[in-house]
Amino acid sequence: MTTAIIGTGGLGSVIARQLASGGETLRLSSADRESARTLAAEIGRGAVAAAGNRDALQGADAVVLALRFTVLKGVIDEIADPLAGRLVVVPSNPLSTDAHGNVSRVLPEGQSAGKVVAGWLPAGARLAMAFGTMSADLFESAANRSPEPAVLFYVTDDDRAGQEVERLIRTAGFEPVKAGGIEQSGRLEVGGDLHDLVVGPAQARSLIDRA
Ligand SMILES: NC(=O)c1ccc[n+]([C@@H]2O[C@H](COP(=O)([O-])OP(=O)(O)OC[C@H]3O[C@@H](n4cnc5c(N)ncnc54)[C@H](OP(=O)(O)O)[C@@H]3O)[C@@H](O)[C@H]2O)c1
Repeated sequence: MTTAIIGTGGLGSVIARQLASGGETLRLSSADRESARTLAAEIGRGAVAAAGNRDALQGADAVVLALRFTVLKGVIDEIADPLAGRLVVVPSNPLSTDAHGNVSRVLPEGQSAGKVVAGWLPAGARLAMAFGTMSADLFESAANRSPEPAVLFYVTDDDRAGQEVERLIRTAGFEPVKAGGIEQSGRLEVGGDLHDLVVGPAQARSLIDRA
């Protein structure tokens, strides 16, 4: 199947490599096109650089918006029409970094990225918050763990989105575990109790049940 990845930076490039190694066909897009082109060339067969963000969605079953939270709404508005009817996977944490490298939260305490992003999407888009629960390095090293796969948590309000994101998570080399509906997305974000954990399925389920 085909997934569009918009944003091929620190996290998007790792997601792309993992999905490609699991057999997913990819359409890649970035702000200046050069990083998408470079990544597509590095991955090789099965990955192409799209002509732009809307073009990335051509023929894609799903899209991963691997973008900083501060540019997310602008890109969603740019590609709103083709998002309807598709799985939209968002790994973004609600953070911004200033010129000095200081990181700060851009949403008020208690307001999760998932709730806000859900309000930005057009009707018919199926949202899952996923793939942003670990640092890119941890994500890469924990993929395809053996003998027990590592878990990637996700949240969604939509059963079909759940099935679709579970397929993508398995393709990337993880075991999917649902942490709840979108209202639970704060648990997955930086500062949440399920963030940056490498655990197996049994421990993951006990963490969810304990909350
Ligand atoms: N990095 C991590 O370890 C990590 C872990 C968990 C979650 N996350 C979340 O993942 C998201 C991405 O983080 P990152 O570290 O990958 O950021 P990043 O390295 O800055 O990459 C951002 C990517 O977005 C692209 N981009 C910016 N504006 C765009 C636009 N208008 N249209 C298309 N592409 C655009 C950039 O394109 P260019 O390449 O052309 O500049 C770049 O490829 C963030 O929200 C972050 O919270 C990151």
